Amino acid sequence: MNQLTQAPQPLVLLSSRELEKMRRACQLAADLLNHLEPMVQPGITTQALNDEAERWTQAHGAKSAPLGYHGFPKSICTSINQVVCHGIPSPRQILREGDIINIDVTPILGGYHGDTSKTFFVGQPSERARRLVEVTEECLRRGIAAVKPGGRVGDIGAAIQEYAEAQGYGVVRDFVGHGVGRQFHTAPQIPHYGQAGQGEKLRPGMVFTIEPMINEGTWKVKVLADKWTAVTLDGKLSAQFEHTVAVTETGVEILTLPCALG
Ligand code: MF3
Ligand code: CO
Ligand code: CO
Repeated sequence: MNQLTQAPQPLVLLSSRELEKMRRACQLAADLLNHLEPMVQPGITTQALNDEAERWTQAHGAKSAPLGYHGFPKSICTSINQVVCHGIPSPRQILREGDIINIDVTPILGGYHGDTSKTFFVGQPSERARRLVEVTEECLRRGIAAVKPGGRVGDIGAAIQEYAEAQGYGVVRDFVGHGVGRQFHTAPQIPHYGQAGQGEKLRPGMVFTIEPMINEGTWKVKVLADKWTAVTLDGKLSAQFEHTVAVTETGVEILTLPCALG
């Protein structure tokens, strides 16, 4: 996700030919998450998830966008429990029963970035973890449902914020969705909070991510000394789901939906 402070690359509208390339990259991203899912078990290290993601990505003729991006040291982001985003895989970090972990992948295929993430349960979740993760996935669903040509960027954040806060949760402000295509992060920024009817108009050909980070407690976060790992200020849980979507003539297309046929 984009940091709000970062000067964004210009917004790009994709032609139908370019959109076709985006579809391929995004399908690969969705397939990669599916591929990693069965590895999410107690005892595995986040480094092992990283290494399999890197191997699989290369085997499919793609590159891992996070690796070396603004100095990020690994191929995927792995964010456990109170980690909001940008967790760095490590051989010293072992998944434990009851953890929640967001895995965020972004392969580059044919020059285009497919960006998607999902929060997984390690073994059996606690009731509070399950509810947070379910609400966060519903936030993404409602954000996507708010996308239509002629609508506004603010419609998306308003839909997410209204639902999340009604459930008693906090919506992270410091990281937002972003335009994506040949570049990893472009305009427009897509906040997961805001006001309906405000912000940039949504137009066919716009491709961006929606990636709400929802916190059990306060929305406030801090970044650790490694300069990447963002954690909740109160140490409570955080969950995230992300899809890359395209605005179409009639509505929205989710580009990173897993294919039913695998
Ligand atoms: N995939 C993240 C996003 O959703 C960005 C990760 S940037 C990295 O935008 F450098 F941390 F990899
Ligand atoms: Co993103
Ligand atoms: Co991502």
